[in-house]
Amino acid sequence: MRLFAKNTSSLSGQVNCPGDKSISQRAIIIGALANQNISISGFLNGEDPLSTLSALNQIGADISINDNRVNIKKREIPFSNSSNSIDLGNSGTGMRLMMGLIAGIGLKAKLVGDESLMKRPMSRVSIPLNEMGANVSNSDGLPPIEIESREIRDDYAYDMPIASAQVKSSILLAGVASNTKVSIFEPSITRDHTELMLKHFGLNIKSEEENDGKRITFIPGNNFLVKDYFVVGDFSSAAFLIIAGLIADDSEIFIKNVGLNPTRSGLIDILIEMGGNIEIKNKKMLSGELVGDVFVKSSVLSGVNINGGIISNIIDEIPILSIAAACANGTTRISDAKELRVKESDRLEAIGSGLSRLKVKHELFEDGISITGGIPEHNETIEIDSHGDHRIAMSFLISSLKLKNGVNVDNCKNIYTSYPNFLETMNSLGMQINEQ
Ligand code: S3P
Repeated sequence: MRLFAKNTSSLSGQVNCPGDKSISQRAIIIGALANQNISISGFLNGEDPLSTLSALNQIGADISINDNRVNIKKREIPFSNSSNSIDLGNSGTGMRLMMGLIAGIGLKAKLVGDESLMKRPMSRVSIPLNEMGANVSNSDGLPPIEIESREIRDDYAYDMPIASAQVKSSILLAGVASNTKVSIFEPSITRDHTELMLKHFGLNIKSEEENDGKRITFIPGNNFLVKDYFVVGDFSSAAFLIIAGLIADDSEIFIKNVGLNPTRSGLIDILIEMGGNIEIKNKKMLSGELVGDVFVKSSVLSGVNINGGIISNIIDEIPILSIAAACANGTTRISDAKELRVKESDRLEAIGSGLSRLKVKHELFEDGISITGGIPEHNETIEIDSHGDHRIAMSFLISSLKLKNGVNVDNCKNIYTSYPNFLETMNSLGMQINEQ
């Protein structure tokens, strides 16, 4: 799918933030594991949560979806082997969390994905799962993943060498599914949706901050409480709207229902430090998660230095933050972000090649990028390749707010993995993005 974004400069209106992708996937995995009648609202009806949903149904769950509402039914037989390969599409979260769940339950399965997912590192999950007693193999560190049934050992403790919420969640799910105690140390703080959701459903999870990181322990013994769940809006999707609002010459936008979990919303502080005019209103808790409305106006931004523990908090927002940096005065330097090289694409490479097309001064490093603000005037339409990565595609479509002749972005179909209504939402605010 090739999209053309025409140059527009004024954005206004009120929009709803789509459901959180990470939380939607966790809600159906944990709901299926609870094996109770559970209704989930605000679910992200996007390709990643949908591939996780069908993976769960393939191993015996009974989950149905109607628009943004999901119903999970209690079953007689909790889970069963699937004779066919389980396809997680583009979703790293889907594959890594399902590895923990399947290994913990003790099923036999083969997991595959699309071209991008088949290139993503999986040893980070299979190594600790195998140390727990599971039998998980991969192909030189990559999918396909083969899982054989084996018993999980009790009281496993793991110090994660990289800060990854997917790895942490996979091990926690293996512990919960096998009803064994498990403890994980994360070297810097990562999104804590799994811990919050397990607590919401009544399980015993302890989180203690230690040095710059956190130790998370699951202690078996409690039964799942029967509760419904409301998925808050996805901060990572809201980030596109927020930065569009900041860089547009004339804008005033109001984004409702934005998830503001402190382990996810560090970008707000960074943008405020850059000079962003952002206000948060109506904060409240929903199903254990903080949510609120975000009000954004056009702003003059300045460059900042970003490194260290905050990187895991803003990891998914760095592509769109790079567009903000390209519009800011001065230089923004992002380091300690090597993980960007193993996302849906090598995001540092993809950001760098897009910025080269925009003729924005930048320098790539192994673990980051420095960007000197200032997009020169272009007399032609800019051509960008998204590298098949949803967040790269959306980021460069938004750069059209600063490009006189707009931008064509190739390879955009993966926008449907995380933000199926992206075009409608942006166009309702005043952008003009259309399929070519
Ligand atoms: C996610 C964790 C992050 C993030 C990804 C979603 C999750 O990945 O980049 O988009 O849902 O747990 P890592 O765990 O690899 O850091």
